[in-house]
Amino acid sequence: MTTARPDLRILEVDTYANGDPTTFGLPLDQYEYLQNEEPCYLQEFSDPFLIDRAWVLSRHSDIWEIDRNVELYATDRGSVNMWKVTPIDPVYGGMPAMLSMSGDDHRRNRGVMNRAFTPNMVKKLEEKFRGYAVEIVDRALEKGTFNFVHDIGHAMPMEALGDVLGVPEADRPKFFAWVDTFAAPFDTRVTPSFDHVLAAIGELMVYSTELAELRRNEPGDDVMTKIVQAHDEGNMSEDEIIGNVALLASGAAESTRTALSHGMHELMRNPEQMAFLRENAHDIPATAIQEMVRIASPFTHLVRTATADHELHGKHIKEGDIVLMLFAAGNFDPRAFHEPRAFDLSRDPNPHLSFGRGPHQCLGKHVAALEMKILLEELLQRTKDIKPAGDINYIRDAYSRGVYDLPVTITPA
Ligand code: HEM
Repeated sequence: MTTARPDLRILEVDTYANGDPTTFGLPLDQYEYLQNEEPCYLQEFSDPFLIDRAWVLSRHSDIWEIDRNVELYATDRGSVNMWKVTPIDPVYGGMPAMLSMSGDDHRRNRGVMNRAFTPNMVKKLEEKFRGYAVEIVDRALEKGTFNFVHDIGHAMPMEALGDVLGVPEADRPKFFAWVDTFAAPFDTRVTPSFDHVLAAIGELMVYSTELAELRRNEPGDDVMTKIVQAHDEGNMSEDEIIGNVALLASGAAESTRTALSHGMHELMRNPEQMAFLRENAHDIPATAIQEMVRIASPFTHLVRTATADHELHGKHIKEGDIVLMLFAAGNFDPRAFHEPRAFDLSRDPNPHLSFGRGPHQCLGKHVAALEMKILLEELLQRTKDIKPAGDINYIRDAYSRGVYDLPVTITPA
C-alpha cells in the first residue's frame, strides 16, 4: 500500500525555521515518505541563489554508498550543497578545498591537514579546551539564565577553531564574525543580506594569506603552520591555502555549536537521558556524543555530481546531474537504526551519517567530539539542574541546522 504524498518541502528554509521541536526540528514524516515511496526524488529549485535541481537520496544505505563511491559521484565538478555559490567551489569562482577535490589532489591536501590532527596535537588541545570549559561555565553560572547557543554552544567551538587554525587572540573577534556570517546566509537576524556573506568571504580570503605569513614567521602546532610548511615544500598552492581555511571557517565551528545546542534541547526534553549523562559526568561516554551528533544532523545534506549515466531506483541519472545525500533523513532511517526517533545516549552501534562516511569524512570529528565531551562534563559537574527558560528557536536555513535561541536556567551544584 502506498502512502498519500505529503506536501514535500524538505529543502525549504522555513521548514527548518518552523521545525517541530518534538521531532528534533526535522520534517521526519516527509523524510519517511521519501524513503518508502520515492527514494530517488527529483527536487527542482527556483531561487537564483540555489542550484537548479538535484536527485535527493534519503535512505541510509544509498547515502552511505554514494558518499564512498567518489568515482561515480564526484566532489570536484562544482556544487557542494544546494547553494549555487560557496567559497570552496572552484568551478563557480571559489577556491579549491579538500571537500571540493578528488583523487591525488584530495589525498595530498588531506595528508597535509592530517599532520595537525595527530594524537599528540589533539592531547594538547584537550588541555586548552578544559581551560575554556571552566571559563565558559564560570560565566554561565554568574548569569544563571541565558541563551545556551550563544553563551555555551558558541564559545567553545569558536575558540577551538581559533586554536586548531592558529588564529591569534587579537584577531579572533573579526574571524569569529566572518564565521557567524557564513553560518546563516539566509537568516536576516544573523546576516542582513547575501552581500554581507560575499563581503565576509572576501575579507576571510585576504586574511588567510596574512595568517599564512604570520605562521610562516611564528610557527606553532596548528593547521596553518602545517599548511604553510606544505606550501613552501611545494605541496600546497596559494589558492588551496585560502580554500582550506574557508572550509574550516564554514564547517568546523557552527556544526559543533549546532550539535551541542540540539543535544542540550533533547537532554532537557528527556529527563532520564539527562540523569544518565549526569551519572557519567566525570567521563561522558562516546555513545552519548555520537547520539547528539546524529539527532542534530548539523548539515542536512551535501551534494555530488554524477560522472556517468546510470539508474538509481528506476530513475535515469545523467552524467553531470547533481545527487543530494540527505544525511538528516538517513540518520532517521528505520532500516539502519532501531527506533530512530528515540534519543538514546547509549545507542550502539550508531552508524550516523552526520560526519560523512567516505574518503571525505570529517577530518575534525574527534576534535568536535572532544569539545562537546569536555564542555558537557564541566557543565554537568558544576550544576545540579538545567531547565528550559523559553522555547527553542531555529535558524532559517535548509542546509545548516543552527539553533538561534535556546533559553536555559542553570542551578549551581
Ligand atoms: C559536529 C561537528 C561537525 C560536523 C557535523 C561535521 C561534518 C562534516 C561533513 C558532513 C563533512 C563532509 C563529509 C563527506 O563529504 O563525506 C566534513 C568534512 C570536513 N570537516 Fe567536519 N564536521 C564537524 C566538525 C569539524 C571540525 C571541528 C573540524 C576541524 C577542526 C572539521 C573539519 C573538516 C574537514 C577539514 C573536512 C573535509 C574533509 C575532506 O574533504 O577530506 N569538521 N565535516
